[in-house]
Amino acid sequence: MYHLPTSCLVIFFLLSLFHPLPCDSSNQGLGWCETLFQCGNITAGFPFSGGNRHKECGHPSLELHCNKNNITSLFISNQKYSVLHLDQTSNTLTLTKQDLLGSFCSSVFTNTTLPPETFELSPSYKSVTIFNQCSSLLPNLSSYTCPEIGPISVSESPEKNPESCRSSFTVKVPTSFDTKEKELNVTNLESVLRKGFEVKLVINENTCQECLSTLGRCHVFNENLTPGVKCRPPSDSEGSCGYNQTSSTFLCYCKDPYSLSCSSGSKISFIGSFTDTLFSFMISVSQFLCSFSANCFSFFFAPFYRYRI
Ligand SMILES: *[C@@H]1O[C@H](CO)[C@@H](O)[C@H](O)[C@H]1NC(C)=O
Ligand SMILES: *[C@@H]1O[C@H](CO)[C@@H](O)[C@H](O)[C@H]1NC(C)=O
Ligand SMILES: *[C@@H]1O[C@H](CO)[C@@H](O)[C@H](O)[C@H]1NC(C)=O
Ligand SMILES: *[C@@H]1O[C@H](CO)[C@@H](O)[C@H](O)[C@H]1NC(C)=O
Ligand SMILES: *[C@@H]1O[C@H](CO)[C@@H](O)[C@H](O)[C@H]1NC(C)=O
Ligand SMILES: *[C@@H]1O[C@H](CO)[C@@H](O)[C@H](O)[C@H]1NC(C)=O
Repeated sequence: MYHLPTSCLVIFFLLSLFHPLPCDSSNQGLGWCETLFQCGNITAGFPFSGGNRHKECGHPSLELHCNKNNITSLFISNQKYSVLHLDQTSNTLTLTKQDLLGSFCSSVFTNTTLPPETFELSPSYKSVTIFNQCSSLLPNLSSYTCPEIGPISVSESPEKNPESCRSSFTVKVPTSFDTKEKELNVTNLESVLRKGFEVKLVINENTCQECLSTLGRCHVFNENLTPGVKCRPPSDSEGSCGYNQTSSTFLCYCKDPYSLSCSSGSKISFIGSFTDTLFSFMISVSQFLCSFSANCFSFFFAPFYRYRI
C-alpha cells in the first residue's frame, strides 16, 4: 500500500486546475527543435542552434549568438564572425570578421580559416595572403605602407613569406578584388572586408533527413522524464532534426518530447487531450514536488507508467 501525503495530493489537484493545457498549446505552436533562431534580419533553423533553439537542436559548430544590437555572430575556429546574411534554402552565410571592420592597418591580424568539414568558400570569393612585418616594400606585389606598422603586401598565391616579411595571414575577398595594382588600395580593401564573404554549409545532414522521411525512430530529448518513449509512427514520426552532443551524430526528435500522445496536426478529443495534459503536467510537477516526497512520486507514477508504456 502507498501512503500518500494528503497535502501532496491537494497541491497536485490545485495546480492541475490552473495549469494551461500543454497539449493544446503544443498543437498550435511549435514542437521541440522547431523554434527558429531569430535576431534582427536573421532567421535560422536546423542545423543551427542558439537563442531560442536549444543546443541539442543544431550542430555544435553552428551555434548562433544575438547581441543587444541584434547583430548575429558565430564563432569559427575560436574567432568571432558577424553573420550579415543567412539563406537557409541555399545554406549560405555572408560573414565578416569583427576585428576587420575598422581601419585595416590597426586590425588584429589573424588568419581567416574555415574548417573544410563545415564550410566551403563560395566560388565568387577567393583567399588572398597579406604579408606584414616587412622590412622593405616588396616591389613585385601590390603594396601599401601603413602609418604605424610599415609595409604590407597582398598576394594571390599562398607562397611562403618573402624573406623581408616576418608574418602573413589570409583574408577572403571577392574574386573581382584586384591584387595586380602596384599600389594596394587600402580603402577598397577595408570596404570589401566590411561587406564580407559568402560561405556554403557542407555539413552532411542526411542522417537526420532519413530519420524524418522514414517511419524511423525519433529520439526523445529528456529521457529522464519519459524513459523509453519512442515516436509512434506514422503521425509522431514527423520529428524535427537535432544533434546528439554526446555521440556527435544527427538525430531527430519527437515534435513534443513532453507529450506522449499529442500527435502533431491531428485533432484530438478533449478527453484524450485532458488526460495527456494531466500526465505531462504531472511529470513536471512531480519532479519538483517529489524532491520532497518519494512516496508521492511512486503513487502517481507507477500506474501511469504501466498504462502508457
Ligand atoms: C535588415 O534588412 C534591411 C533591408 O534588407 C536592411 O536595411 C537592414 O540594415 C537589415 N538589418 C540588419 C540588422 O541586418
Ligand atoms: C532588436 O529586435 C527586437 C525584436 O525585433 C526589437 O524589439 C529591438 O528594439 C531591437 N533592438 C535594436 C537595438 O535594434
Ligand atoms: C596564418 O597561416 C599561415 C599558414 O598556415 C601561417 O604561416 C601564419 O603564421 C598564420 N598567421 C597568423 C597571424 O596566425
Ligand atoms: C616577389 O619578390 C620576392 C623577393 O623580392 C620573392 O621572394 C617572391 O617570390 C616574389 N613573388 C612573386 C609573386 O613574384
Ligand atoms: C580606392 O577604392 C575606393 C573604393 O573602392 C575608390 O573610391 C577609390 O577611387 C580608390 N582609389 C584609388 C586611388 O584607386
Ligand atoms: C546520444 O548518444 C549517446 C552516446 O552514444 C547515447 O547514449 C544517447 O542515448 C544518445 N541520446 C539520444 C537522445 O539519442
